[in-house]
Amino acid sequence: MYEIVEKNKLAPEIFHFEVKAPEIAAKAQAGHFLILRAVEKAERIPLTIADYDREQGTIDIVVQEVGYSSQQICDFEEGEAFLDVVAPLGNPIETEDYDRVICVAGGLGAAPLYPKVKSLVDHGAEVTTILGAQRAEKLIWEDRFADLSEDLYIATDDGSRGTEGFVTNVLEELLSEDNDYDAVIAIGPMIMMQAVSDLTAEYDLKTIVSLNTLMVDGTGMCGGCRVTVGEETKFACVDGPAFDGHEVDFEEQRRRKKFYEEHEEEIEEHHVG
Ligand code: FES
Repeated sequence: MYEIVEKNKLAPEIFHFEVKAPEIAAKAQAGHFLILRAVEKAERIPLTIADYDREQGTIDIVVQEVGYSSQQICDFEEGEAFLDVVAPLGNPIETEDYDRVICVAGGLGAAPLYPKVKSLVDHGAEVTTILGAQRAEKLIWEDRFADLSEDLYIATDDGSRGTEGFVTNVLEELLSEDNDYDAVIAIGPMIMMQAVSDLTAEYDLKTIVSLNTLMVDGTGMCGGCRVTVGEETKFACVDGPAFDGHEVDFEEQRRRKKFYEEHEEEIEEHHVG
């Protein structure tokens, strides 16, 4: 059992959990994810390890209520425990050998982006961060990014905070003024990662995205997380979840996600009432 030592509401429908898991915390690195099963018959949910504390033996996850299964997780309170957590899964992201990096997050993508920024800074990189959200109240961990980043830019769809528009508007402005960066790391909705990758391709700038595909086993067995990268089939769980953004077939991913989101809606309807 994995005890919840702290729970915070970060934004409407977005919760942060700090969970006691010493063995996972001891091995976790930026880019790893976990698969959580809240109770015995619950769906297995993949979540990025958003932070970890080896001394305290804790790991952090951020969950958004978007359907029946995520709501089930978000209903847990401090002192209660999740049934099981399998981790660390996936490959850690390479954060050494960078001098200047732009890190871009859209919405909940801020949570998986955070450990990458932390690791980049730990390895001596100068990080510029762009955080985007639909509106100001949906921005998460702005203070954490402000502490780590050389510069922090905010973009909201409705202009309630920072630049009115998308993260790509800010990124385009930055790159048009100064293109001397080693890489861009972008995490968020598929459409946002695609837009960032299209933009950075014009500047021939290395771009890494992290794919939040459907996952079932997380070990390369089920094929649920398959993704086409550079015309090759890859599995996000064992080959990723980080990939070269210029090589990912985003259209295919968006089609697959849409299909499963419709399926999730059916499950939700089935469980309500
Ligand atoms: Fe099953 Fe990746 S989650 S193969």
